[in-house]
Amino acid sequence: MRTPYIAGNWKMHKTTAEAEELARSLVRSLDRENKKVMIAPAFTALGPVKGCLEGSHILLGAQNMGPEEQGAHTGEVSVLMLKDLGVEAVILGHSERRHKYGEQDDLINRKVRLALSHDLEVVLCVGETLEQREGGVTRRIVEQQIRGGLKEVGDLGRITIAYEPVWAIGTGKTATPKDADDTHGFIRDLLSRLYSAKVAEDTVIQYGGSVKPNNAAELMSMENIDGLLVGGASLAADSFVPIVRYDTGS
Ligand code: 13P
Repeated sequence: MRTPYIAGNWKMHKTTAEAEELARSLVRSLDRENKKVMIAPAFTALGPVKGCLEGSHILLGAQNMGPEEQGAHTGEVSVLMLKDLGVEAVILGHSERRHKYGEQDDLINRKVRLALSHDLEVVLCVGETLEQREGGVTRRIVEQQIRGGLKEVGDLGRITIAYEPVWAIGTGKTATPKDADDTHGFIRDLLSRLYSAKVAEDTVIQYGGSVKPNNAAELMSMENIDGLLVGGASLAADSFVPIVRYDTGS
């Protein structure tokens, strides 16, 4: 059984005080939920938000990290610094890192392996652009990103895959649950080929891209959608809490 896993990626939003306020409100509202929940504030708010999450089951995530433990890497934040703040998970390979900051699979793979070697959980993001989707190469792109991101990764126990079609991020366009589920099914088959049927069966695959309270349940009702990676709607308790509490009615 895969535990439903809902994560909020706060991206480049919120001052420390705003982040703390939202974190406290989520702790109050979500403490009795038995789903896995993670929030990923900006680096500057990680320490203060950790304080708010004390005693709660909500996991603290980072949105990125540097590819080395330490050294001359101006502007980067290292895995050791994240661990020092009590971070438990890290989002890697997000499409905004890939497309706005030029991150490629090799670099992402170095980060994935470094994070795992320090016992962080990893949410590895993959997804095609609109042009790639229209060109009919969605599966090829997703396969390339997964093979590249997971190169030399033997154990997927701490890995979650997030399928986020780039054209659905922040645009209000969601992949239809069926389209998303098709790609999720493809990803699960790929994991089965690369690892084993058991690993494929156990790995959580999140969907991300314009997830809102009104589409969460339908997305989560699909066979291969095990979780959600939420951007805009994770910035307020009013929208994130109902997403976490989605009810598929089954
Ligand atoms: P939106 O939910 O704002 O479309 O963002 C999705 C996302 O990129 C989460 O990582």
